[in-house]
Amino acid sequence: MRVAVLGAGAIGSYVGTKLSSVGCSVVLIGRRPPKAKSARSIRGKVATPGDLERTTDPAAVEGAGVVIVAVKSMDTAAAAQALDGHLDPGAVVVSLQNGLRNVPVLARLGVEVVPGMVTFNVIWDGDDLLQSTSGPILAGKTEKLRPWIAKLRESGEEAGFRTDMDAVQMGKLLVNLGNGICAVANVSVAEFVRSRTLRRAYARCMREGLEVAKQAKRPVASLGLLSPWLVSRMLPVRDAIFFRVAKRLISIDPRARSSTLQDLDAKKPTEIDHLNGEIGRIAAELGRSAPANEFITAAVHALERGERGFLGADDVLAGVGG
Ligand SMILES: NC(=O)c1ccc[n+]([C@@H]2O[C@H](COP(=O)([O-])OP(=O)(O)OC[C@H]3O[C@@H](n4cnc5c(N)ncnc54)[C@H](OP(=O)(O)O)[C@@H]3O)[C@@H](O)[C@H]2O)c1
Repeated sequence: MRVAVLGAGAIGSYVGTKLSSVGCSVVLIGRRPPKAKSARSIRGKVATPGDLERTTDPAAVEGAGVVIVAVKSMDTAAAAQALDGHLDPGAVVVSLQNGLRNVPVLARLGVEVVPGMVTFNVIWDGDDLLQSTSGPILAGKTEKLRPWIAKLRESGEEAGFRTDMDAVQMGKLLVNLGNGICAVANVSVAEFVRSRTLRRAYARCMREGLEVAKQAKRPVASLGLLSPWLVSRMLPVRDAIFFRVAKRLISIDPRARSSTLQDLDAKKPTEIDHLNGEIGRIAAELGRSAPANEFITAAVHALERGERGFLGADDVLAGVGG
């Protein structure tokens, strides 16, 4: 199987390395020369690249049956432009991006485009990749991706099809509303879940997101064991109870940092308009507002511009109206 990955960041390089380690012929295409040396799963299994070509030339997608798009959502239009004219007519494009608006942008390429979802986090450790939280890789059901799903499973990933990817994307968006909160408070994912104050801020953003989804008549799915309804109810409970339940549901590497915080650390633009900002956008489309998520979005933008420092947990909670 020939697989091309456009966007050789954390997700593209992790998935590309894993697929090449089980016999797929993979080309990783970056804006800068891709650097991944290995991909380690949360259980500690290290995959090293097999047939893995690294390039900055988008024309290298030619000949690939599966094309993974793993750029941040604000780069999707430019990625589609880079792919235009290079795709095989029978290729299938799978977007492994967060956010709700990438698939329609990629659909203009004129080949089959399928939504996908990585439900775990990946971080860099030098040139190595670490899966830092647990969860499955999901994709919309299409025969063309069956061998790809099989290869992901062979590489040790939990992977499968879903027929309700719109709802999966909305569910992931809601779970991801903590991403911006980690960034605004400058805390790791592990520190975030240990802070009841930040968990209450997260619950506030999630409940607002659930309400907006309901008003917009957008279905919301659970991701594995993570139901947004359950999570939003569980987050504010006292630490002792929360830790007992959370330990059974998710594994978190102490080094895990939210992608928004990683982008701020790297002085790069963040994806916040497609995360907390998306809740504000859907609310605005309904003629309403989403003040909690709009506060987080504005606070991240202020950090991007260097106008304001990080906030303490109490200020984050007050800011989202908790
Ligand atoms: N990281 C996670 O744990 C995680 C988990 C689940 C889902 N996701 C989602 O997966 C997507 C990718 O996230 P990520 O964390 O992997 O982002 P990332 O590390 O920033 O990787 C994206 C890569 O795409 C490159 N890129 C941008 N435009 C390009 C173009 N036109 N051609 C070639 N390469 C291009 C970027 O280059 P530069 O380095 O030059 O910017 C960067 O290396 C996002 O939608 C994110 O929300 C991430």
